[in-house]
Amino acid sequence: MKTDVVIIGGGPSGLLLSQLLNKAGVATVVLERTSRARVLARIRAGVLEQGTVRMLQEAGVGDRMAREGHPHEGCIFSDDDLMVRIDFKELTGKTVMVYGQTEVTADLYAAQDAMGATILHDVADVVICDAVSDAPFVTFTHDGVQKRVDCAYIAGCDGFHGVSRKTIPDDRRREFERVYPFGWLGILSRTPPAHEELIYANSANGFALASMRNEMLSRYYVQVPLTDKVEEWSDDRFWERLTSCLPGDVVKTLVTGPSIEKSIAPLRSFVSEPLRWGRLFLVGDAAHIVPPTGAKGLNLAVSDVFYLQEALIAAVKKGDMAGIDGYAARALARIWKAMRFSWSMTTMLHHFEGEDGFAAQMRKATLLHLSQSETARRDLAENYIGLPY
Ligand code: APR
Ligand code: PHB
Repeated sequence: MKTDVVIIGGGPSGLLLSQLLNKAGVATVVLERTSRARVLARIRAGVLEQGTVRMLQEAGVGDRMAREGHPHEGCIFSDDDLMVRIDFKELTGKTVMVYGQTEVTADLYAAQDAMGATILHDVADVVICDAVSDAPFVTFTHDGVQKRVDCAYIAGCDGFHGVSRKTIPDDRRREFERVYPFGWLGILSRTPPAHEELIYANSANGFALASMRNEMLSRYYVQVPLTDKVEEWSDDRFWERLTSCLPGDVVKTLVTGPSIEKSIAPLRSFVSEPLRWGRLFLVGDAAHIVPPTGAKGLNLAVSDVFYLQEALIAAVKKGDMAGIDGYAARALARIWKAMRFSWSMTTMLHHFEGEDGFAAQMRKATLLHLSQSETARRDLAENYIGLPY
């Protein structure tokens, strides 16, 4: 096989990149380790920045999002009963879109199918060869047969556990990391959302988030120690904890019900540099992880894709290498700013085990300041709706 760009990983990063390249006449082959059903079974955050919405529209996958997604003009930060509304629309003129990542991925698969794109599922043993040469290629096993695809460029869109990042020699790679001493226990329930906007809650009982997918589907999280197991959290115990974290006025009208999904996710900030190794480029979770506080994961993957698709189209179509040479610096500048924002939101809202009273007072003071300062709210809004690209 031969193609312009081999894309390793058929998650949102790989699919969006493939879609944009195919639209511009650049040929791709997407290699995905699992089945489509398994990719689509993943439940992830559901808040899209305006830049992400624009990119999905440009990729031709914005129609269902426009119909079924929910634009949000603000969100709430709370500290016990204090509720601070961040009015994105008034502070920045922009809004965010509540639309699940699972739906984004499904729309991308449908668009890729309609285009006749090449997406191979259930591939194993992916190996990136000769990345630092003019003739890279990728080998893999598919249907029990060893295969090879030659290409001009390789996009590593294979997430945190993929092979792409590890193709860069250890002694040429630098990793930056913060592992937080807690996870998020999340549930999905067929109940109306607690509030019309998302609530990020700080409380004496730790952090909680009230989020949603639609009028009859809610997504809630509470912070838990990393040692906790899902089996230890009955629905009753979950609702009890959640209600102890959310503001009293919200709890009054909260509708509870059976969970239809329940899982625990650890929180981590991680960046691996460089993003480029010869003709291999890292994109999305393959290069960086953010804690979910602020929902930057998918949005950051999409801005990486924006920079890389522009670069690859110019290189393949016009032989213009400036974008290729500039990809890492452009993407990393935005990545580090999103890292800072999601780290600061995580610090502002979570209880750190073993912390002293001073740390708790710092969180309360930050939230009180937010309630009283439009400048502080504007700064938060500007980051939340997404820094420009
Ligand atoms: N070979 C082929 N595919 C692989 C390999 C491999 N060796 N390793 C992993 N993959 C696939 C995974 O099965 C997965 O479908 O790569 C895909 C990576 O998808 P994601 O982990 O979803 O990463 P990405 O596409 O960068 O999505 C951005 O933003 O909010 C975050 O984690 C959230 O998924 C989201 C991400
Ligand atoms: C979600 O709805 O799953 C969600 C929303 C916002 C976040 C994280 C997760 O910051």
